[in-house]
Amino acid sequence: MEVILLMASTVDGKIARDSSQIVDWTGKADKKYYVEVTKKAGVMIMGSKTYDTIGKPLPGRLNVVMTRDKSRQSDQDNLIFTDLPPAKILEDLELKGYTSVALVGGATVNTLFIRDNLITQIHLTLVPRLFGSGLSLFAPPLDLDLELSLEEPIKDLGDGHILLIYHVVTHEK
Ligand SMILES: NC(=O)c1ccc[n+]([C@@H]2O[C@H](COP(=O)([O-])OP(=O)(O)OC[C@H]3O[C@@H](n4cnc5c(N)ncnc54)[C@H](OP(=O)(O)O)[C@@H]3O)[C@@H](O)[C@H]2O)c1
Repeated sequence: MEVILLMASTVDGKIARDSSQIVDWTGKADKKYYVEVTKKAGVMIMGSKTYDTIGKPLPGRLNVVMTRDKSRQSDQDNLIFTDLPPAKILEDLELKGYTSVALVGGATVNTLFIRDNLITQIHLTLVPRLFGSGLSLFAPPLDLDLELSLEEPIKDLGDGHILLIYHVVTHEK
């Protein structure tokens, strides 16, 4: 299963100022790329805090939301709440015929996947902003030594936004 971590980052490596901040600080081209990748995969996996910033399932894709809150119940076909571990979520999606998924944050859920060496690609849009403090791609404590290979050419999305596509080449714990 191809697991694409799809994220936008400020130049100082922040994905949000705090857990409740909506991602409304990136440019049009990044939003377009997000839709393109998530629709192509057909499924996106996110944490409940990220889901709450979006507020609803995005159409045209399966929205898998990780939560331990049993009171969260889906009333829509394209929305699943789950407390299964990442590897089991991927196994179930594979059984449903998916060959790739977009992992769309936030830091907590990204960390669960990278800890288990399940991320195969990182698509990172570098946004010309500085937050100074906030959340990073992953949340500590985390001890990684992974090698990434950059896909060429690097894409200029315009308005100072750069898309970097990395492939995870080593899977070390
Ligand atoms: N810049 C970007 O591209 C980007 C992309 C995505 C998100 N973000 C930002 O990231 C922020 C949210 O990130 P975050 O790290 O605070 O939260 P998050 O990863 O979105 O969600 C965390 C939640 O996931 C659930 N969870 C954690 N471990 C779990 C497990 N083992 N099994 C099942 N559920 C589990 C818990 O939900 P319950 O409490 O419900 O149990 C936890 O509160 C927001 O500000 C968002 O805008 C930025």
